[in-house]
Amino acid sequence: MVSSENNSFPSSQPASDNNMRSAKPIDDALQMLDALRWQVEMGADEAIMDTPDLSAAQSITDNDADQAANARADTPTGTNLPNQGITDRSAKGGSEATKIEALDVSRCQTLEELRQAAAAYDGSDLKRPATQIVFADGDPASNIMFIGEAPGADEDRQGKPFVGVSGQLLNRMLLSIGLPREQIYITNTILWRPPGNRTPTAQETAQFMPVLRRHIQLVAPKILVCLGGAAAKAVLATNMGILKLRGQWYDFDAGEGLVLPVMPTLHPAYLLRSPQQKALAWKDFRQIAKKIEEIQS
Ligand code: URA
Repeated sequence: MVSSENNSFPSSQPASDNNMRSAKPIDDALQMLDALRWQVEMGADEAIMDTPDLSAAQSITDNDADQAANARADTPTGTNLPNQGITDRSAKGGSEATKIEALDVSRCQTLEELRQAAAAYDGSDLKRPATQIVFADGDPASNIMFIGEAPGADEDRQGKPFVGVSGQLLNRMLLSIGLPREQIYITNTILWRPPGNRTPTAQETAQFMPVLRRHIQLVAPKILVCLGGAAAKAVLATNMGILKLRGQWYDFDAGEGLVLPVMPTLHPAYLLRSPQQKALAWKDFRQIAKKIEEIQS
């Protein structure tokens, strides 16, 4: 596999009016080739549509820009996040909550009831284009619950979170601290694959928060780990970038008297794009291993 460090998107050189028209098909071809090269580097090994959809390539570029912006914002200070739980978020987001149709899952008493309620919910535009709900994987009796962003194409096909290339890297990261994947419980902030793997909107995230919150209450783990900025921002109710948030423990008030430590860390997909950042994730995972030891002693 080609190293993603060598990957570069074609620069958007300004073209003069004269050459603009003739250069367009070449630009399109270069863009398509670049999207294809990126997909191959990310592990794509089959075509699932008759025609190429460049919107996914575009959203990957946008996500990268977002990560880069976060990285830049991270360098100057080491400011900590004031602890905010979901309770704070719902207080702040009250008007937002009235604009969307949220799912009432407060009566779900088991994970299966929650899965069925979420699967039957028709209030999200994400459901129709998706193949199936991607609810969770792993051991529901685990002390440690991981939360990702949203299912990708592999997860959408298999109905399980983190089964694609990101999941394979995650499995290796878990094993590096002696934690087999089967011993954790894992879900996503969003339970349906956003079309083209785009980043879920703030509204979609807010819509799924009651499900995630009930999910956490029903699993009642001892430790939460947020994989990536989207999950960390949703759970900690903040707009702070992941590079600033990661590596520290925060208290999360899940409701019903459940307050638990949460560690935001880097998303495996980001680490695949920026392998030089793996050292940071390794630091976080060592802290997670230490916390597991503490709760077991
Ligand atoms: N990325 C995520 O955030 N979740 C998945 O399930 C797969 C990839």
